Amino acid sequence: MVSTNNPPSVAFNLKQYLEEQKQVVETALEEAIAVVYPEKIYDAMRYSLLAGGKRLRPILCLSACNLIGGTTTMAMPSACAMEMIHTMSLIHDDLPAMDNDDYRRGKLTNHKVYGEDIAILAGDGLLAYAFEFIATQTQGVPAERVLQVIARLGRAVGAAGLVGGQVVDLECEGKPDVSVETLTFIHRHKTGALLEASVVCGAILGGASDPQLQCLSEYAQNIGLAFQIVDDILDITATQEELGKTAGKDLLAQKATYPSLWGLDESRRQAQQLIDAAKANLTSFGPAAAPLLSLADYIVSRSN
Ligand code: FPP
Ligand code: MG
Repeated sequence: MVSTNNPPSVAFNLKQYLEEQKQVVETALEEAIAVVYPEKIYDAMRYSLLAGGKRLRPILCLSACNLIGGTTTMAMPSACAMEMIHTMSLIHDDLPAMDNDDYRRGKLTNHKVYGEDIAILAGDGLLAYAFEFIATQTQGVPAERVLQVIARLGRAVGAAGLVGGQVVDLECEGKPDVSVETLTFIHRHKTGALLEASVVCGAILGGASDPQLQCLSEYAQNIGLAFQIVDDILDITATQEELGKTAGKDLLAQKATYPSLWGLDESRRQAQQLIDAAKANLTSFGPAAAPLLSLADYIVSRSN
């Protein structure tokens, strides 16, 4: 038996792992949506879905399934669905009625290319297709696990998750006195909910027990919040080229962010503390958790 006391991430090559995982995800996404009549909507959906990106959510989903002993094939439709939903949320977030952004992933935003009407519909199309894709494409997994995934994902994207977080974010725009509690509510919902669903759904597909799901849920919540703190830091410290989207927007929009409340140094410290907690959540999995442990480190060290 392998000792759980070994430092698991020592020999793990994250760069290679990310490259390999990203490649299988890109291939699956490329094959996920065919262009048929009316071509315009499929083109618009594919334009944003295939624009690159870190593919962090699908990779977390696959890694969590693998950790539990499931295969990549079992989790791939759900992994793709996570990216479809993430992409649709960005298409809608960039609309003039929300953040009114011109660039995303280094390219013009969806509405800049296809118009607002089609961009709204491309988001709607991706959201609906994500659920269809899980239900129709998942193979080799008991139906009750697939049902659980669909239910958890539905909750994560609706008013109890992404949508609710975005609503509070919009309400707070331009307010000078947003509290840390409100900011944390926004990010736990707007960003954290889908990251958590990615990890937990991957684990459900792999057949995780309730205690395993609990550990992975806490891990995901911790990396989710750290991810957002780092996003806020990068908005100040990184360039538009590095980010693939407009930099310095938070300051310009006088948006409440962690650096605006805590300063940069304290924000970095809090992010690292969350990553340490996330890694501690995985102790019971032993060395098999190396990919998820390294992914946690990557979240604080990333440059975009
Ligand atoms: C980016 O945040 C936006 C999100 C993480 C999610 C936004 C959610 C919605 C628009 C709701 C979508 C609807 C459904 C049904 C899921 P940001 O503006 O802080 O970051 P950015 O700088 O990358 O734009
Ligand atoms: Mg935005």
